[in-house]
Amino acid sequence: MFRFGVDYYPEHWPEERWPEDARLMSEAGINVVRLAEFAWSFLEPQPGRFDFDWLDRAITVLHKQGIQVILGTPTASAPPWVMGMFPDSYKVNEHGHRLTYGNRCEFCPTHAGYRERGRMVTRAMADHYADHPAVIGWQIDNELNGRCYCPTCQTSFQNWLRGRYNTLDKLNAAWGTAFWSHVYTEWSQVPVPVQTGGVPNPGLDLDFRRFMSDTFACFQQEQVDLLRQICRKHFITHNFMGFGFDQINYYDLAKPLDFVSWDNYPRTGWHLAKEADPTYLALGHDATRGFKGKPFWVMEEQSGSGGWQTVGMTPRPGEMRLWTYQAIAHGADAIVYFRWRTARFGTEQYWHGVLYHHGQPGRRYDELKTIGSELKRAGEQFLGSENRNQVAMILSYDARWAFQGQANHADFSYSALFRSYYKALHARNIGIDVVSPDADLSRYRLVLVPALYILPEEVADRLRSFVQNGGLLIATARSGVKDEANAVVNRYLPGLLADVCGVEVDEYDVQPAEETIPLELSLPGREAQSAGARLWFDVLRTTTSQPIGIYQAEYFSGRPAVTLNQFGEGKAVYVGTLGDDALHDTVVDWALQSIDLHAPVNAPSGVEVAERWQGDQRLLFLLNHNNETVEVPLTQSYMDLLSGTGVDETVKMPPYGVSVLHNEE
Ligand code: GLA
Ligand code: ZN
Repeated sequence: MFRFGVDYYPEHWPEERWPEDARLMSEAGINVVRLAEFAWSFLEPQPGRFDFDWLDRAITVLHKQGIQVILGTPTASAPPWVMGMFPDSYKVNEHGHRLTYGNRCEFCPTHAGYRERGRMVTRAMADHYADHPAVIGWQIDNELNGRCYCPTCQTSFQNWLRGRYNTLDKLNAAWGTAFWSHVYTEWSQVPVPVQTGGVPNPGLDLDFRRFMSDTFACFQQEQVDLLRQICRKHFITHNFMGFGFDQINYYDLAKPLDFVSWDNYPRTGWHLAKEADPTYLALGHDATRGFKGKPFWVMEEQSGSGGWQTVGMTPRPGEMRLWTYQAIAHGADAIVYFRWRTARFGTEQYWHGVLYHHGQPGRRYDELKTIGSELKRAGEQFLGSENRNQVAMILSYDARWAFQGQANHADFSYSALFRSYYKALHARNIGIDVVSPDADLSRYRLVLVPALYILPEEVADRLRSFVQNGGLLIATARSGVKDEANAVVNRYLPGLLADVCGVEVDEYDVQPAEETIPLELSLPGREAQSAGARLWFDVLRTTTSQPIGIYQAEYFSGRPAVTLNQFGEGKAVYVGTLGDDALHDTVVDWALQSIDLHAPVNAPSGVEVAERWQGDQRLLFLLNHNNETVEVPLTQSYMDLLSGTGVDETVKMPPYGVSVLHNEE
């Protein structure tokens, strides 16, 4: 069954209303709800006194309508009594300030007392619901996030370092504590990089970020272990925050889970934007699919305008449906909307759900119902289908974190660079896998490596064999700069990629963000083209490569900025600057042409095309992100899974329209 759900908070509404909610849900085709991830005050009103009666009654009402349940462990927001028990369990932020009560996620993830209370409530819930016929799975906590700099975290950090380096000599050598006489002689001297300590040693800084990420993974693991033991029939997941969130290594966090979920909010009230950026949403989905390399759930899909203090734009008619199928196109196997009914009180009064505060069904409910009936018919065919892509982009959390410590250029953003190459591919409707640096690359034909700043030897070896065996690699400036301890390598840049790229960085320069240095590109088989170099300028010396992009200004005018190297059976392109759209577009376009990879359908601009495969059966998704009608030409006839009708020659797509096509048997 394709799971189609809502996030529901029965504890916010009078019990008399529950049957009406359940009835409306069921009429819209809802077959699953997520409950209780913020209900700790109701699940355990007093220390050790658990109350599941209300939740049992709510679940019974829902289950009568055929609705199944995912339970959230409630540790993301603790009742005042928990925090009152452990005043030192409040997080200390990067400025050295201890948080106070009032929001959520205020807890320190290493605090033993908090963790114990978390395990206790999780265990009690697990014992109570292990055999409940309506419960199918668990979400651990909610959007784990944050960093804590408290004394407990400092001690844990020191222990973590002991595990990593074994001896202080090794730590001192790796971090280069010779600099400014930071040589540590006791583990207890090692600080946390709180801002009162100024600008930290980059080795320490990166290790602290790794440690915090491991700490959250460990926090999650404790609850996973309990649930695995007690609830053997249930799945376990966590709701991630897609590509945008950069504090936890999501590849690690995904490991113990059955599948990954994520929360997709195309438009919020914090950054009012007229258009939801389809590319960015696609990247969120592709990154999420990559965290575990398999289909995922959307655990919170936007259904109304999103806002806390300020109100965001309402999803336009058709957008909920469009975002739903976009998620499915990129590998979602279930969609759960946030939230069923808009809260009348609390911080999120303006984070709108399917129903407004008044609870009466309206336009968005009708749209939900339409999607519900389509998925009832067609949903089964999506389940478990694969996204089979030939292009991968490597996403490195080590690189992200090292850049958080040292941006290299005030206007450089790793995420923005990543997005610009992703966008060039996505605009051409090429399917992309976003993978970890540890991924097996053998099934790809093109691999892009934006600023792989921290480059472990094994990863460099894998990239080298990928090219050796016929792959096409595109690597950018600021790749191969650092070793795993965040020290600069003792070789010509791009360090361990210099041989495969056939190039050495002779000099580098930076310029203010508004400056563009013209580049002349001469890609094999194409006319010369111009593009712009920005922010960062590697002045290259070719060893075995040929220059394919030349700076046209500055003291390095005439020197190579972009190179192409034949290496073994494959090729490597090194782009020594961060560039403008013209540069990314041209390089990507050329790369796709040279491996003869094309979009499945030649669609007009703003129409996203994606494929999932159910065995040999191809599901072809056409998603019209334009607020106007477009026609998409086809080269054969298909069945439209959603409408149940045949199409040939062209599909006429209304604003925000969707078609899912498959070949007629
Ligand atoms: C997140 C959380 C939800 C809710 C929404 C809207 O994604 O998981 O609990 O707070 O944002 O703010
Ligand atoms: Zn702490």
